[in-house]
Amino acid sequence: MLTRVAIITGSSSGLGLSTTIQLARQGFEVLATMRNKDKFTVFNLHTNEQDVLDRILPYQLDVTDQESINRFSEKVNTLERVDVLINNAGFAIGGFAEQVEINDYRRQFETNLFGVMAITQAVLPKMRQKRNGTIINISSVSGRMGFPGISAYVSSKYALEGYSESLRLELRPFGIQVAIVEPGSFQTNIWSSGMEISKGSLNDQSPYHDYMTKIISSLESSKKNHQDPILVANLVAKIANMKEIKRLRYPVGKGLKATLFLKQIIPWKWWERIVLKIIFKK
Ligand SMILES: NC(=O)c1ccc[n+]([C@@H]2O[C@H](COP(=O)([O-])OP(=O)(O)OC[C@H]3O[C@@H](n4cnc5c(N)ncnc54)[C@H](OP(=O)(O)O)[C@@H]3O)[C@@H](O)[C@H]2O)c1
Repeated sequence: MLTRVAIITGSSSGLGLSTTIQLARQGFEVLATMRNKDKFTVFNLHTNEQDVLDRILPYQLDVTDQESINRFSEKVNTLERVDVLINNAGFAIGGFAEQVEINDYRRQFETNLFGVMAITQAVLPKMRQKRNGTIINISSVSGRMGFPGISAYVSSKYALEGYSESLRLELRPFGIQVAIVEPGSFQTNIWSSGMEISKGSLNDQSPYHDYMTKIISSLESSKKNHQDPILVANLVAKIANMKEIKRLRYPVGKGLKATLFLKQIIPWKWWERIVLKIIFKK
């Protein structure tokens, strides 16, 4: 049987790292892309299964850098096949909307949205040629509900959800499937080194300073409840193996499905009260 090929972005840590190993365990050859070449050996620190490591091919790719994307496109052209693309690379910018620099909003969208679009464009010709392929976009609970203090992140993930919904419809006639995975809160770097807080909101003269401090402490105290990334990795691997991906959205995380259901059925006023109570504990 031919070896199936998966490509993933942002494989150097967190969900991307776990997913890469999980896909390789399942027999996929994984083009494990990451922007920092110094992290190419990260997989050896997380598994000593040699057959798994042999199926992981690290490759340098910054999803916001056009030259890097062009090189990646050429690499994709040399591949026999691409069965699965996982658009995982992402980061978060925190800060209140009045004070987040427009350039920071742009940087947030560059990675979390335009990066996904560019990498998808690079991979699609190969998938179309084979009339086969699965694209899994890693969105977030923040692509389904807004939270104060992270409007840049939330809006980038909402945009990703809309893009994915259209993409799925466009690609159906070509035999290419699209799914969105929506994680809740998992133990990765995203809420620490993967998060940037806009300077304005941290300034103690800022009218939002107290709010921002409460949000940061709420994030800190919720870290102990963050779940193991393996849950997301297992879900992505399961979707990657599906013949027919029936649903567009796959939420994952403790209580997330129930929360999304609640958001749909209760009046908006009640929903806002719950969100503010959870975030600001009042
Ligand atoms: N963890 C959660 O609770 C959670 C919840 C919902 C959604 N998500 C989503 O899950 C995805 C993975 O995040 P994570 O939680 O695993 O956080 P993470 O550990 O910080 O991993 C993010 C990855 O994205 C990479 N990355 C960032 N900018 C990039 C760029 N321009 N080009 C290529 N790679 C880039 C990072 O590379 P470096 O190592 O070079 O920084 C890192 O490998 C993100 O899309 C995030 O929004 C996470």
